[in-house]
Amino acid sequence: MLVTTDFLIVGSGIAALSTAAQLTGAGEVLILTKAERSEGSTGYAQGGIAAAIGPGDSPALHAADTIRAGDGLCHEAAVTVLVTEGALLVGQLIDWGATFDRDATGAIALAREGAHSVRRVLHARDATGREIERAVWKHVSANLSPRVLTHASVTDLLVEDGECAGVRFFTNDGTAGAVRARATLLATGGAGQVFSDTTNPAVATGDGIAMAFRAGARIADMEFVQFHPTALSVPGGPRFLLSEALRGEGAQLVNADGDRFMARYHEAGELAPRDQVARAMVQEAQRTGRPVSLSLQHLDPDFVHARFPLVSTTCRRFGLDLARDRIPVGPAAHYLMGGIETDLDGRSSLPGLYAAGETACTGVHGANRLASNSLLEGLVFGARAGRAMRAERRDRRRAEPPSRYGSRIPDAFPDNTEAVLEEVRRMMWQSVGLFRDRPQLEQAVTALTDRWTDVARHVTALPIRAEAWKLVNVVLVSGLIASAALWREESRGAHFRSDFPARDDLHWRRHGCQQGALGRVSESGLNR
Ligand code: FAD
Ligand code: SIN
Repeated sequence: MLVTTDFLIVGSGIAALSTAAQLTGAGEVLILTKAERSEGSTGYAQGGIAAAIGPGDSPALHAADTIRAGDGLCHEAAVTVLVTEGALLVGQLIDWGATFDRDATGAIALAREGAHSVRRVLHARDATGREIERAVWKHVSANLSPRVLTHASVTDLLVEDGECAGVRFFTNDGTAGAVRARATLLATGGAGQVFSDTTNPAVATGDGIAMAFRAGARIADMEFVQFHPTALSVPGGPRFLLSEALRGEGAQLVNADGDRFMARYHEAGELAPRDQVARAMVQEAQRTGRPVSLSLQHLDPDFVHARFPLVSTTCRRFGLDLARDRIPVGPAAHYLMGGIETDLDGRSSLPGLYAAGETACTGVHGANRLASNSLLEGLVFGARAGRAMRAERRDRRRAEPPSRYGSRIPDAFPDNTEAVLEEVRRMMWQSVGLFRDRPQLEQAVTALTDRWTDVARHVTALPIRAEAWKLVNVVLVSGLIASAALWREESRGAHFRSDFPARDDLHWRRHGCQQGALGRVSESGLNR
C-alpha cells in the first residue's frame, strides 16, 4: 500500500488534533494512529489544562511558575509562547464546545495543583483530556474531514536527500505500507512505557523519538523524566493515576502511622513540585519501612465522589473508598520533558519533519513540567506546527515506492521479546528512576547499548511484528534516557543524582542532545 498526501500526522492526541485544526483548506490531511483514535495520554488526562484566565492571574505569573518548576532550564521564549497563546487557545476550546466545570456563579471553576501560585487549572471533573479531545475532534472532523487510519503503526521515517519524505507503517492485519507527504508531523506522545511503573497507556513507547533518532534528527533533554507522586499502588493493579487535583482540593499524604509528613520535606507540603513530592514519599517510606497513602478522610465524601468520579470508581474496583479509606500510592513514570528537538514552530532538525506535544522538546518545561501544562503544550505548539506545515512549499510526494518497501522481519528476531522487554523496563525503573547514580547508570547504559546493538540490525528490514517494534523502540529510548542521565552530573528538576545532589548552574545550565550514535551527548540547539 503506497499512499500520498499533502500533510501526514502521526498520532491522534491533542497535539495531532491541534495541528490538524490549522490545516483546513490547505490540502489533504492523513492521520495515522497506532490504536483506536481515542487511545493516548490525552484521553486519560485527569487534572486539567492550565491557563491564566482567572482573577489575580496573568500570563506573566503563569510564566514565573512554569520557569520556577523548570528549575533553571526552561527555554523562556517557549514559555512566553505557551502562556500567552495558551490563554487564547483555551478560550477557543470553549468556543469549540469544550465544557469545563463551573462554580455556583457560572464562572469557570479553576483548580489548584502543585507549584501553581494561584488556582489556574480548567477541568471537566477528573476526565479533562477526554472532554478536550471530544471538542477538538468535533471541530476538526466538521471543518476538515481528514482521512484517519487507525491501528496503523508507523515504524520509520522515509529519508531522501537528507529530508523527511513520509513514513513506513504496518496495520493490524500485517499489511505494510508507506506514505509520502509534503510535510510530516510526529505527535506520538510520551514514553512512560519504558519504565515498569508508569501512569501512561500502552501506546506510549516513545516511537516518534526512536524513529526520529534513527533518521538522524536531534533528540534533546532525555534525562528529564517526570515521576508523578500518586499512582495507585495495589498488588497486581495498574498504576492508575490519582490526580494532583486531589491534593489541590486538600488530600493529604500520610505515612503508615497516619502522620502527615510532607511539611518536613518542603514548605509547600503536598503542593510542592512533583519531583520533590515523589522523592519525599520514597524517603518517608524508606524511613518508616512502610508505604505511604493519600487520605481524603477529612473532606466531605459527597464532594469527593462528585468531583472525582473516575478516580472514585477506579478505587472502588480495588475495594477502596476514595473518601473513607487511605489510598495506597507511590510514584510512577508519567511525562517526558525531553524529546525531538524542535523550534517554536515544531520544526525538527530534519527538513520536512515536524514534532509537537509530548514527543517534542521545545525546552518549554525545562527540567520539570508544571502540572497541567502538557495539554496546553499540545494545544499551543500543535497549532504552531500546523501553521508552519501549511507554509511548506517543497513537495516530497514522488510516486515510486520507497526503497526497502515490502521487506519482512527476519526470523532471527528474538522470540523471547516479551521477557526481554520486561527486563529492560524493570532495569529502567530500578537504575534510571527517581534516584540515580553513576554505577547504576553505567551498568544500564552498557546493558542497553549491547541490547541495542543486538536489536538494531533487525531495523534494516521492515519488521511487521508489533512486539518486535515495541522492543526496538523501548530499548533505543531507554538507551537515550540512561545516556543523558549519566551525562548530567548534577541534580536538577526531575533528574536526581545521589552522587551529585546539588544543582550546578556553572557547568550544567544547558541542554544536551543526542544525534546519530547512542550514548554520545553533545550541545543542543536549544542553548542558542
Ligand atoms: P498522546 O495524547 O499520548 O497521543 C499520542 C498518539 O500517538 C496516540 O494516538 C498514539 O496511539 C499515537 N502513536 C504513538 N506511537 C505511534 C506510532 N508508532 N504510529 C502511529 N501512532 C502512534 N497533562 C495535563 O496537562 N493535564 C492533565 O490533567 C494530565 N493528566 C494526565 C493523566 C495521565 C494518566 C497521563 C498518562 C498523562 C496526563 N497528562 C496530563 C499528560 C498529558 O496527557 C500528555 O502529555 C498529553 O496528552 C500528550 O499529548 P500528545 O498529543 O503529545 O500525545
Ligand atoms: C494530574 O491530574 O495529576 C496530572 C496532571 C498533569 O500531568 O499535568
